[in-house]
Amino acid sequence: MINRREVLKYLGLSAVTLSGIKAGATDLSPVLLDDKDPNYWDNVRDQFMLSKDKVFFNCGTVGVMPRAVFEKLEEHSRFLATHVAEWEYKDDNKEQFISGYNNLIPIRTKVGKLLNCDVGEIAMTDNVTNGMSYIANGITLQPGDEILTTDQEHGGGQSSWKLKEKRFGAVFKTVAIGKPITSSSEVYDTIIKAFTPKTKVLMLSHMISGSGAILPVKELCAEAKKRGIFTVLDGAQTIGQIKVDLKDIDCDAYVGCFHKWMGAPTGTGFMFVKADKLKDLWITVASYRWDDHADEGFRFTQRGTGNFSILLALEVALDFHFQLGPDKIYDRIKFLGDRLRTGLKQNKKVKLFSPKEDAMCAGISLYTIEGLTGAKIQDAYWAKAKMRPRSQGDVYGVRHSTHIFNSETEIDRAIQIVNQLSA
Ligand SMILES: Cc1ncc(COP(=O)(O)O)c(C=O)c1O
Repeated sequence: MINRREVLKYLGLSAVTLSGIKAGATDLSPVLLDDKDPNYWDNVRDQFMLSKDKVFFNCGTVGVMPRAVFEKLEEHSRFLATHVAEWEYKDDNKEQFISGYNNLIPIRTKVGKLLNCDVGEIAMTDNVTNGMSYIANGITLQPGDEILTTDQEHGGGQSSWKLKEKRFGAVFKTVAIGKPITSSSEVYDTIIKAFTPKTKVLMLSHMISGSGAILPVKELCAEAKKRGIFTVLDGAQTIGQIKVDLKDIDCDAYVGCFHKWMGAPTGTGFMFVKADKLKDLWITVASYRWDDHADEGFRFTQRGTGNFSILLALEVALDFHFQLGPDKIYDRIKFLGDRLRTGLKQNKKVKLFSPKEDAMCAGISLYTIEGLTGAKIQDAYWAKAKMRPRSQGDVYGVRHSTHIFNSETEIDRAIQIVNQLSA
């Protein structure tokens, strides 16, 4: 039910008018405040509506909204369907009816806090693919200029650069980094060796989606910077899974989404570009502000009518993340991932394609079982225990993503199933 106060809130009325209504997210349930409670992670699990008789291991594709996030999405959609007539349309930046014209400062500020960058450097997008497309399309390259990347990039990260090659004569170059990757230093050396005087862009996944490998992006960006190479990272798999500190990484650009590991609705993403580079980036989707450099992030955020409900729900997802504690979340995800990989390594018939160096791994594991395809393994998981990892085809088996709503028991059961399948 939407009450009068909610109507006032979305109409952008002041905090004084709204006394008694909390801005932003609902507070965490008190049970989540005590992480010494032995049931702590069960209490976290209870924050998700995810059906209890099924186990989800596929955040690498799409994540799961906590209940509070879903409720905000539902509440605002209902509000819009019920109260749109209340909208006087006086101030795009205050009223919360549609996105695409609103500067979204509160949400962009929270994203800036998450990533350690300035609000003006953040633009909201729908997903990684369009963020990367804005960057590739917005940069001027000459024929023969090289874009360097790995042989394991996702289509949503690399295709806009292939387009650049076909349309403008730039050269799209890939280097093989191994699967499994042996070490961070080997990846580093391989990529550095591939730089040439013509390399103008280094585009890399911060985490490779097909293996969960965390690449040594900070070190690579530092080397690229010395050579004047523009660096752009694909963070589709990192946001909400591992810590991302943009000042520390010191890349020129970073694109990511919130609909995988951050528990936000689908269709929520961002693009970061350093202030000094963002001012020179050509716009791809142009509206009124296409050439207004007063707020660079807003220039790219203004993209025509969009869905405000998903952005408000994203804000709740960000609050949930901050309230639970980012480090606690990242540690738990890695703990569960490590537990899975440790169990799998005991089985001689299992081949792991995740990196051999533990520090390069977090919540994504890639493995197969001798003699089985990914589809067979995926189907067997479902038939035996209603567990859902994702097939990666005939060679690479399954990609298995672990998140805070998963439990040790689920991981141990998964290892047991693998052992049964390989027996
Ligand atoms: C590394 C990587 N890049 C890009 C994408 C595309 O993301 P989106 O669908 O949000 O555009 C994905 C999706 O899985 C991915 O894993």
